[in-house]
Amino acid sequence: MSASLLYLLVPVGVGASLYVIRKLREWKWGWVRNNAPLRGKVFIITGANTGLGYETALALATRQATVIMACRSMDRAGEAIRRIRQRTPDGELIPIELDLASFASIRDFSEAIKSRYPSFDCLINNAGLAVQEPTFTKENYEVHFGVNHLGHVLLVDLLKDNIRANAARIVIVSSKMHERAKIDFDNLGQWVERGRGDRFNNLYNNSKLMNFYYARELYKQGYNVHVLCPGLCHTDFFRSYNPRWYHYVMFAPVVLLFLRSARQGAQNIIHCATDNVNTEEKNPVTGYFVTNVEQTKSKFKFDEETSERLWRESFKALNV
Ligand SMILES: NC(=O)c1ccc[n+]([C@@H]2O[C@H](COP(=O)([O-])OP(=O)(O)OC[C@H]3O[C@@H](n4cnc5c(N)ncnc54)[C@H](OP(=O)(O)O)[C@@H]3O)[C@@H](O)[C@H]2O)c1
Repeated sequence: MSASLLYLLVPVGVGASLYVIRKLREWKWGWVRNNAPLRGKVFIITGANTGLGYETALALATRQATVIMACRSMDRAGEAIRRIRQRTPDGELIPIELDLASFASIRDFSEAIKSRYPSFDCLINNAGLAVQEPTFTKENYEVHFGVNHLGHVLLVDLLKDNIRANAARIVIVSSKMHERAKIDFDNLGQWVERGRGDRFNNLYNNSKLMNFYYARELYKQGYNVHVLCPGLCHTDFFRSYNPRWYHYVMFAPVVLLFLRSARQGAQNIIHCATDNVNTEEKNPVTGYFVTNVEQTKSKFKFDEETSERLWRESFKALNV
């Protein structure tokens, strides 16, 4: 074989292999196959204007559902609706303001739901964020705890009678990063500076563990609750990170092997919101969560004392 042919074949072979690996991974990440119409069903999605929430809203609207888009900016919600309408004329899209960093806003939102959509079918606790600089909610809790966990706890508490009356489903968007987390009761709700050697955002990871613990407690109380990890997804989630050029080089293999589209990650949310997922053996209490559109056992060792203590401390923080 001539050298010039080899120079051609090697890059083509490498490119083709990477393409096949990527496609195999996409296949493993899974897709929701159920396409049944959802006309007459009402879904509430927090943080529906972008990322995973947006893709979930689009998919549910395409299946003719009524989607309440609970967003902190009505302008961004309106823009998201305009984009969804370019894709589908189906479903109903209702924007209602909700800032999870404000108890007053959560209360106003809940009142609006109780009067306009009291018998909704599913609440999707999707909104979430990770920040680099100290940032606090109106009630002065650091935002990972305040928004990702506490705001949603208050929301469910205010809507619990409606949820119970209609046996509505609760979907909680956690993350596999919960497996690297630890609940820090001494500093609950407080900003803790990242240590020099910390590779991960512990405050974020801890809030995602709280999501899981909270789902377990709800499940124990008889709620139809599902917890999931969407996988590493290409969304606006990393907006507060400022990558340098060499980060792009370093992370190129990670992107190729692990980064899903928002649409693909949202399959996990849609699966939990529309399919019967929990079983007696596989549910949040037995440590199962949905990822790759199937139930997966968490590596985290949950303990009941922490679970119950987090519940108590969360309600203490809410002062209700
Ligand atoms: N992307 C990933 O790789 C990944 C992996 C594992 C888990 N997750 C989880 O997936 C969920 C969705 O994240 P994403 O990737 O779709 O991120 P995203 O594109 O940044 O979307 C986050 C959504 O949350 C909203 N939000 C943030 N703070 C809020 C507040 N105070 N009140 C109401 N809404 C608020 C945002 O609204 P604005 O646009 O107005 O800011 C946005 O709509 C999060 O819970 C995240 O922890 C993501």
